[in-house]
Amino acid sequence: MKIAVLPGDGIGPEIVAQAVKVLEALRAEGAKIEMETAPIGGAGYDAAGDPLPEATLKLARAADAVLLGAVGGPQYDTLDRPLRPERGLLRIRKELNLFANLRPALLYPELAGASSLKPEVVSGLDLMIVRELTGDVYFGQPRGIEMRNGERVGFNTMLYSESEVRRVAHVAFGIAMKRGKKLCSVEKANVLECSELWKDVMIEVSKDYPEVELSHMYVDNAAMQLIRAPKQFDTMVTGNIFGDILSDAASMLSGSIGMLPSASLDEHDKGMYEPIHGSAPDIAGRNLANPLATILSVAMMYRYSFADLATAERIENAVKQVIGEGLRTGDIWTEGTRKASCSEMGDAVVRAL
Ligand code: IPM
Ligand code: MG
Repeated sequence: MKIAVLPGDGIGPEIVAQAVKVLEALRAEGAKIEMETAPIGGAGYDAAGDPLPEATLKLARAADAVLLGAVGGPQYDTLDRPLRPERGLLRIRKELNLFANLRPALLYPELAGASSLKPEVVSGLDLMIVRELTGDVYFGQPRGIEMRNGERVGFNTMLYSESEVRRVAHVAFGIAMKRGKKLCSVEKANVLECSELWKDVMIEVSKDYPEVELSHMYVDNAAMQLIRAPKQFDTMVTGNIFGDILSDAASMLSGSIGMLPSASLDEHDKGMYEPIHGSAPDIAGRNLANPLATILSVAMMYRYSFADLATAERIENAVKQVIGEGLRTGDIWTEGTRKASCSEMGDAVVRAL
């Protein structure tokens, strides 16, 4: 198994180093893993003048899976748009055709107190958001800023083809089948034609999955329901921009965005695995970041790309054990638990493994 390791910027290198420790521990037991590291985002720009250097893309293409940290930092915010770190991330998703983004939100019982919501609202939460990742207003043409009638206008295009909706629908229904068989499709069909098509295609695809109960919700209501009564959801499927926003909201239900992994898959289950949080420049380089989302992303890699559920569960159980032992990075720390650094957390997971 060839893994392309792309640490990126900010806390990226620190958290990825902990996930690599986990992979090395598995390798020491005999797992056949090869890892190669390459720069992406601001690090790519610094190394090669490009947030997605050619060599990095080549490495990622040749790999069976990609492990990514995070990209972005204030020092890159003034670069021309195509050179910005985020562009590197969007391009690698598009180049590798990673159209299905799986973002679970799971609450570890011990972390109920770390959520900003009441424990009774979030305890037992186990939600999967399937976000379309290579279409929508993120990529639609035309886009730009130009002069019209003597003033600047900015514009983007929200666009989905039915084949794009259909393929992510199949992934979402497939996942719902393995979970609670309830799928909620989120859109804004009361206003947007793009959403009207999305909803139509979801209904068409649902005929192939008679066991799954499909429901529809407007995105504004979905945002409210996620905060009001999140446990009503089992699996959600939504477009790129709505999924971006809703998955950040959902992350707080689980105590901290520092806990949530993600998988971005192509048609053949090749995937890129990354925490859903960003590069957190404010705490970068201080050994404070929570590495658990990245370590849990490795578990997702085993589950989805390597089809090795036993190892996936072993990693997840190791994380549970460390949480159970009371170890906490700052973001999930509550009175009575033990503060741990990023690397201490990584070491503890390796020990528990
Ligand atoms: C995410 C991030 C990215 C996105 C940014 C960094 C481009 O917010 O993965 O959710 O908007 O997709
Ligand atoms: Mg986001």
